[in-house]
This record gives sequence, structure tokens and C-alpha cells, in this order.
Amino acid sequence: MMKDILEGITLGNPLAVEKYFDLEEDERKAFIVEYKDSLEKLTLLMKQRKKAIFEQRLRLFLDLLEEVQTPSYVIDEQLIEENMKIMRYVKDRTGCKVLHALKAYASYHTFPMMREYLDGVCASGVNEARLGYDEFKKEVHTFGAAYSEADIKSIVKFSNVVIFNSFTQLEKFAEYVKKQKKQIGIRVNPGYSEVKTKMYDPCAPNSRLGVIREIFEKEYPNYEKIIDGIHFHAMCEQNSDVLQRVLARFIENYGKYLDNVKWVSFGGGHHITREDYDVELLVKLITDFKRSFSVQVYLEPGEASVLDCGYYVTSVLDIVKNGMDIAVVDGSAEAHLPDVLLMPYRPNIIGSFPPYERPYTYRIGGVSCLAGDVIGDYSFEEPLKEKKKLVFTDMAHYTIVKNNCFNGIILPSIFILKKDGSLKLAKSFSFSDFKRRL
Ligand SMILES: Cc1ncc(COP(=O)(O)O)c(C=O)c1O
Repeated sequence: MMKDILEGITLGNPLAVEKYFDLEEDERKAFIVEYKDSLEKLTLLMKQRKKAIFEQRLRLFLDLLEEVQTPSYVIDEQLIEENMKIMRYVKDRTGCKVLHALKAYASYHTFPMMREYLDGVCASGVNEARLGYDEFKKEVHTFGAAYSEADIKSIVKFSNVVIFNSFTQLEKFAEYVKKQKKQIGIRVNPGYSEVKTKMYDPCAPNSRLGVIREIFEKEYPNYEKIIDGIHFHAMCEQNSDVLQRVLARFIENYGKYLDNVKWVSFGGGHHITREDYDVELLVKLITDFKRSFSVQVYLEPGEASVLDCGYYVTSVLDIVKNGMDIAVVDGSAEAHLPDVLLMPYRPNIIGSFPPYERPYTYRIGGVSCLAGDVIGDYSFEEPLKEKKKLVFTDMAHYTIVKNNCFNGIILPSIFILKKDGSLKLAKSFSFSDFKRRL
């Protein structure tokens, strides 16, 4: 089998990737040791294969579009599994552990599949920790900017690791965490980031996230014996060249304190499953780090787990005119795709083009009263008509977890596109969901 895979890699046959993925863990690791010169090519083949599968699944989904009521999110389980395979490959190559960040995507219907590939989840507080404990059933690492006394017991119960954002909080709760035989982490500010949008930059001036070096140096010696690991998070949708620079600063600032820790978490923001992501550099960075410091490395990607794995589907309700044609859809950026306004960014609609590039240009706007509830301007080959379904791509992350009922707008249903090609309605919402929150 190993020789078959090697031959396939040499011939550039994507089937070799499938065979590699089908190996048992010890066989995959043996392959990596024995055929290290072919791994770069294997990585490239993995990307080609993933692209082909993503295109094939998109066609399958579009054939089923009639079955999708709107507004809805549709999550493709097989596409998530393809991303999981890439994550597991990084684990195989480096021995790092990968935790899925629940803050990005927490639709637990796909957790039974995801848990086969990853080591667990990272949570932002008590509810995510409980969800991870109940539904993912593997490691749970929780980090919150601060914990309340009311929550800490549950957080410790549902977490394997509790990560503190300050030494004050650590001092307050460490004894309890240790008594429950759970691990303690401290989040540090590495002192460097390249995140362009301030809203998403954990290392922006005066950030509350992570202990700064000056304080760490003073306080760490008092807690050295009880701290199990150090965590940093400084990236957002970035490639491994950014990690290289963040890591260099982390090592410069905190490298001398790593002798007694069991693990270091490189946080999230790694766009590992993106087509242009440099997996080989990531592998090198983790391998070198482990060689220098003999610690377990954790990654906490959220977005990368479900990148390009979901759609948001709306229907046109009306076309109004004011200097241009404006299509009002049965959805909302404000209520269903908040990052479109927060980042901000212009999501892709299947079959659309940049404004005025094709004969019919429309501004797409939501049903809410918010003047700025605009998804963007797009052009189309054909005019948009009432009931026309618009399919937005890459909508699995930071959508379902962030949506809201502003104006009483209905929450989108959630469909799962199963591996066998069937479409399953996982959740639908009604007036009572709106009322219950008020
Ligand atoms: C502490 C921490 N870990 C992981 C993540 C996940 O990041 P992403 O979804 O960008 O990979 C975040 C995102 O904000 C975070 O704050």
C-alpha cells in the first residue's frame, strides 16, 4: 500500500491522497517518516483533490436548491470532512494537537464526524465549554477574558484546561481548578500582530486580551509551579508567514519561560485549509518550535475548520428603485451575516459579477429597517426576479453563531448536506424562538 501511494504521488495521481487518508494513524506516521522527500508533493496533491471535491459538491448542492426554503444556511458535511483531513495531516506531520474553535462554528450536528479527526475544542466560556463537553466529547480548553464566580464551577467541570487572561483571575481561581485536577493556562500578548482590522486585532494598542510582557515577567515566577501551559492568539484569517513573525516575537518575549510548561497554544486565525495556505511552512514552524522547547503544541483554528463549507440562501422579495435597482431579500446582513457589516466584506454570490460588469446591476439589501443593511452591489447576466434564490458562499463560520433576531426577522433554517448527497433539515425557527429571547 505504501509503495502504491508513493507511486501515485510521483505520477501526480490524486487517488494517492485518498489512499493516504485511508491509512491507520500508525501507518500514516510511518509513511511520513519513510517518504519525507515526497511530502511536499503530497501536500500539493491534497490541495488539488480538495478543490475538485469542493467543485463537485457545489454542483450537487445546486441540483438540490429547490428543496431549500429561505432564508437558510446549508452546511456541507463532506466539505467539512475534507478540511478535517487537512488538519489531521498537519497533526500527522508535526505531532501538534488541533482544537476546533467553537466560537466560529458550533453546529454540533457535524461533531460526530469532526471528533474523528481533531483532539477537541476550544471554548470561550461556560456555554461553549458545556457544548464541547456534551457534544464533541474530547478535550475542552476554555479561555475567557474574565470568569465570574457564578460560572467558574461549571467552566472547570466542563473543561480540561482553563486559561486565564490575568494573574489576578488566576490567583482567584487557581486553587479550585487544581483541586478539580484540571490544567491551568495563562494567555499572553505576544507583542506583535499583523491584523489590519482593529476590531479583530487582539494585539491592538490597549488590548485587554493577554498579559503583556512587563507584567508577565513580574508575576510569572510566583505561579510558575502551577501553570501548565501558555496561550497566545494574535492572528485572523492569515497564512503561516504571519505565524512565523508572530512566533519569532513570542519566542523573543516568552521563550525563556517555557522550560516548565507542558504545552503552548498558538491560538487561532490560521487559514490552514485555504488554497494558498503554506502548510509546509506551518509544519516547519511547529517542528522547529517543538525541537527548541519540548512542549506539546496546540492550534485552535475555527474558521479553517469550515472554510468554504456552507451557503446562505435567500430569495428576492422585491426590487425597488432609487438611482439604481435594489433587490430586497428575505434575509439580512445585520441579522444573519453580521461580519459582512463588521469586517466589512462583500460576500460572493454564485452566478454574480462585480457591479456593472454584466448587464444587470443590483444592490442587495436585507429586510430590516437598518439603512445600512446592505450586503453589496453585484451584476448578473439576467435580471433578478421575485422568488429568485441567491446563494452566498463560505457562510458556515461566524454566521450561525452570531446571528440575531433584530426586527423579529426569522432566524435562517439550518440544513446539513450529508455525505450521501441527501439534504437534512437540522433546525428551523419560529415566532417562539424570537419571543423566548425577549
Ligand atoms: C482565543 C481564540 N482562539 C481561537 C480563535 C479562532 O480563530 P479563527 O476562527 O480565526 O481561526 C479565536 C478567534 O477569535 C480566539 O480568540
